[in-house]
Amino acid sequence: MIVEESTCKGARDQGWELMPRLVRSGTVTQLYVDGRPFLILGGELGNSTASSLEHMEAHWPRLAALGLNTLLAPVYWELTEPEEGVFDFSLVDGLIDGARRHGLRLVLLWFGSWKNCMSCYVPAWVKRDQRRFPRAQSSVGRGLEMLSAFHEENWAADARAFAALMRHLRAVDSGRHTVIMVQVENEIGMIPEARDHSPVANSLYRGPVPAALMEYLETCRGRLAPELETAWERHGRKAAGSWEEVFGPGPYTEEFFMAWQFARYVERVASAGKAEYPLPMYVNAALVRPGYRPGRYASGGPLPHLIDVWRAAAPSIDFLAPDIYFPNVSEWCERYRIPGNPLFIPEIRRNATNPAYAFYAFGELGAIGFSPFAIEDAGEADGQPLAEAYRLLRQLGPLIAEHQGRGTLRGAAPRIAYDGTVGSMAQTLSLGGYRITVTFESLGCSGIFSVPSAPGEAAEALPGAEPVVAVDPGDVLSGGLLIFLGDDEFLVAGTGIVLTFAAEDGSGASAGLLSVEEGEFACGCWVPGRRLNGDQTHQGRHVRIPPGRFAIHRFRLYRYH
Ligand code: DGJ
Repeated sequence: MIVEESTCKGARDQGWELMPRLVRSGTVTQLYVDGRPFLILGGELGNSTASSLEHMEAHWPRLAALGLNTLLAPVYWELTEPEEGVFDFSLVDGLIDGARRHGLRLVLLWFGSWKNCMSCYVPAWVKRDQRRFPRAQSSVGRGLEMLSAFHEENWAADARAFAALMRHLRAVDSGRHTVIMVQVENEIGMIPEARDHSPVANSLYRGPVPAALMEYLETCRGRLAPELETAWERHGRKAAGSWEEVFGPGPYTEEFFMAWQFARYVERVASAGKAEYPLPMYVNAALVRPGYRPGRYASGGPLPHLIDVWRAAAPSIDFLAPDIYFPNVSEWCERYRIPGNPLFIPEIRRNATNPAYAFYAFGELGAIGFSPFAIEDAGEADGQPLAEAYRLLRQLGPLIAEHQGRGTLRGAAPRIAYDGTVGSMAQTLSLGGYRITVTFESLGCSGIFSVPSAPGEAAEALPGAEPVVAVDPGDVLSGGLLIFLGDDEFLVAGTGIVLTFAAEDGSGASAGLLSVEEGEFACGCWVPGRRLNGDQTHQGRHVRIPPGRFAIHRFRLYRYH
């Protein structure tokens, strides 16, 4: 694999070439750990689990048994710095020790100034001293339980603590790289109003848009997020002015203003940490329900429509990441596939069906990681499909890494809308000189997700324009990835999918199956299982991985007239 360019801000300057970093490769950005691409097969702990090492001890074996290679675990400011300037890293050290004993890597989540908008994790000495550490205020002047993003004492205290954490990680882990990334804060945002109304915030809101943001807008004009670009264009594309002069009055302008301020704050925290130890750093977002306006969701957070504001204000942050708790998983994944922003899903609802989206995210969107939330609570129903998915993704990891960003890897998954309707039961993609139609099946709705009965039928019978169908998203367990190995040969992995083929070379030839094997990879070598034909390929018409289990099939096509 050609490593084109290290994009991890800070790591190269320090000369730590083997430390975890982000590397541009083809059309994607990959995470490198110990000099090799690394796909995070993760799970995030529930919020309070990592506050007791004894409590954690019971969870480690189960986490390893689920097939995770990485645990996402919080580090709490209140327990790390119980007295100002007095640091206690025993919980962090315990996490590192536990992860090493169980063969896991860690992504640490800095629960600092904000956790889901609130400042519940700031230490008591911060909470109690509101004069020194001012709060955000509502429009009627009430203090909110959120640190104000506008006060230097707030970010300076957070930055000192975060820098101490990163210094500690450098001391205890720079030789091992058990910790591979750090999330800065958690689901930042303003609620229940679109912005802070404290006197400082009010006066800055009436003041000019910072020159750095105006320069960014000019430089990236034509490539900005549509919401930001439209607001700027509609109000005369000014080169300078107050927030309302540049973007117009209204809650979205208040949100742009908050996004800038949150991101500047995070930049001060992240850059202080990177100066100590430059691991890749990201911020995660609580997503927006349809029709919600700023103030009803975590406004100003690292959302796709605010990515330019975040990029202009927080250059030490390597990427923005979505926490996906809505059924429209593919839509949110795609919205975060922004050039230069690798897709990492630090939180996704833990259920029996979402593991199928991991194949789609790694295959179609070049994702660097996938991680269901409250992983220690996984039971039989949701843990078993995740473990099965991760078992196969681990085997395929080197191949996926080799093919990401090269045009030889694709993925497909059902497009479920926010309200649970499924808009398309088939998707067509081009790969290796063939047009491949992927039809989705489900466990509970075989009547709706039917298996095609003749070659090419899937494409004709199930066009994308098919009316939307009401389906319980819980019934849809379907998704997969496809790798073109060369010479008409392919791998498909996933669940609940049927593939049919057409030649794409303009010769009018039909496409047939030469061979189909199920199998697995052991130590990087393909170990074939059954040769599939007859009923298992519908007498040579399709390749099918039935719903209800994950599998890898290797197949070869040919053309005939
Ligand atoms: C998203 C947050 O980021 C998590 O820490 C947790 O609070 C979940 N929501 C709960 O659903």
